[in-house]
Amino acid sequence: MTLPKPEAPDAQPAPVTFGQLVRWRRDVRRFRSDPVPEALIDRLLRLADLAPSVGNSQPWRVINVRSPDVRAVVRQNFETARQRSADGYSGEQADLYNRLKLAGFDAAPVHLAVFCDRDATQGHGLGRQTMPETLDHSCACMVTVLWLAAREAGLGLGWVSILDPDVILSTLKVPPAWKFVGYLLLGWPEEEHLDPELERHGWQPRTPFESRYVELGTGETQSAETNRRPKPAAAGGSVTLVGAGPGDPELLTVKALKALQSADAVLFDDLVARPILDFVRPGARLIDVGKRGYRTSCKQPDINAQMVALARQGLKVVRLKSGDPLIFGRAGEEIAACQSAGIPLSVVPGVTSAQGAAANLKVSLTNRDHARRLQFITAHDRHGRLPADIDWSSVADSAATTIIYMPKRTLAELTEIAIAHGLDPNTSAIAVANATRADEQVFKSSVGAIAGELAAAHPDGPVLVMIGEALRYATTKDTADQAGVILSALGVLSELT
Ligand SMILES: Cc1cc2nc3c(=O)[nH]c(=O)nc-3n(C[C@H](O)[C@H](O)[C@H](O)COP(=O)(O)O)c2cc1C
Ligand SMILES: C[S@@+](CC[C@H](N)C(=O)[O-])C[C@H]1O[C@@H](n2cnc3c(N)ncnc32)[C@H](O)[C@@H]1O
Repeated sequence: MTLPKPEAPDAQPAPVTFGQLVRWRRDVRRFRSDPVPEALIDRLLRLADLAPSVGNSQPWRVINVRSPDVRAVVRQNFETARQRSADGYSGEQADLYNRLKLAGFDAAPVHLAVFCDRDATQGHGLGRQTMPETLDHSCACMVTVLWLAAREAGLGLGWVSILDPDVILSTLKVPPAWKFVGYLLLGWPEEEHLDPELERHGWQPRTPFESRYVELGTGETQSAETNRRPKPAAAGGSVTLVGAGPGDPELLTVKALKALQSADAVLFDDLVARPILDFVRPGARLIDVGKRGYRTSCKQPDINAQMVALARQGLKVVRLKSGDPLIFGRAGEEIAACQSAGIPLSVVPGVTSAQGAAANLKVSLTNRDHARRLQFITAHDRHGRLPADIDWSSVADSAATTIIYMPKRTLAELTEIAIAHGLDPNTSAIAVANATRADEQVFKSSVGAIAGELAAAHPDGPVLVMIGEALRYATTKDTADQAGVILSALGVLSELT
């Protein structure tokens, strides 16, 4: 769809159909600061004034707030109310709330405060005897017309309601019967988007029409419950969670390769090795949703929402994750998002990084002389700390091979506690950075020393640590070199004899 161009003062609005306008209308919170011609504002307000109202009551009252002092009070009130709302959320939702842009006070050149006059006599009370709130509904109709008219003219409008109405009423000194409806910010949009801001940032996607539309009296009455079923993806839309393996592209499964070659959109993590992206079908959308450890990045709800939104457009979406998607990959949340949205979903397993690392070390993780248990643990909880509920007796078990994912930050603490629980500090331990990649690094050590060695080497890229006596048979480059020296010495000896 071509977006309308910003309107020059005297120009005709760009041609856009009503359907396009409604779909394209976006609440705007990012404005350029250049002024809006007075004549244009006047024209838009007059158009909005033609909105439907109960009994033709036209109860809206609009104040064009020009005073910088008043604007400053409103802005301050917004900040206070916003902070209060933020305190009501916790965890990821709180982070997300704090990242949402909820108003564009500073840049928007036009500020309009809208009120509903509950004493409006116009209309002779028609239609509001039983429902006095129809006056408020009428004001919302007016704002909607203004919103659409503004967007048609290339302007952006943001409706701000995170405000304390009492503060607004007293600051603007309006008559007591005026009820605050909303504070509108108007200006030229800094950027245009086809998808709603709240959907783009993973707050709340739009949900299926069917969940709000109920037919009654057609013989076969559908219940609202039936209608609450999630809307299926548009024909062909689907999500496949694909394991990219630890890095070496040749470790991709044939099924993973086929999925990449038929994808319309690929959402990939930061840890996915770049050469793997070369297998993606040319023309497919490549979207980096990297969740970089310890750095700011895409949040999980954003990724879920984007994945679902793309599938709803009828696209074959591949969610490409490092290693195996079902191992420490937050796949559970992505699977739940697809299932609750009714999106067809499949999973293609991948080689987990522990397997890739073990293969290069040519070591059996379950050597029958040393290991009767193989366990994968994470050293990183949702706050980046050592998980509080690790079963230390399992980690200290001398007959276990333990693979520690995400160990970088907490390894010293982890090994110290494991030793305190009885794990022999001389137990073999190996750290592998960038397993199966060209820059793979191996650190062969012991449980007591591995954290110090890793901290000193400070390798870039993902690292995992393996501990257990089975690891003592690992073939690292050093041991391979030593074996080579011994074999060639033996060769020399045999030639001499
Ligand atoms: C009554 C009402 C009040 C709203 N208040 C706010 C607000 O305070 N802050 C904000 O960022 N968006 C506010 N919005 C915008 C919505 O949160 C939402 O982003 C918008 O309606 C989506 O429209 P779009 O699809 O055109 O982007 C409000 C919208 C309405 C209808
Ligand atoms: C979020 S988890 C993802 C695990 C992934 N799903 C898997 O199966 O390997 C990220 C952790 O996996 C490990 N990891 C992933 N790829 C790796 C690689 N190529 N080399 C070493 N460790 C890797 C690291 O411990 C890293 O911190």
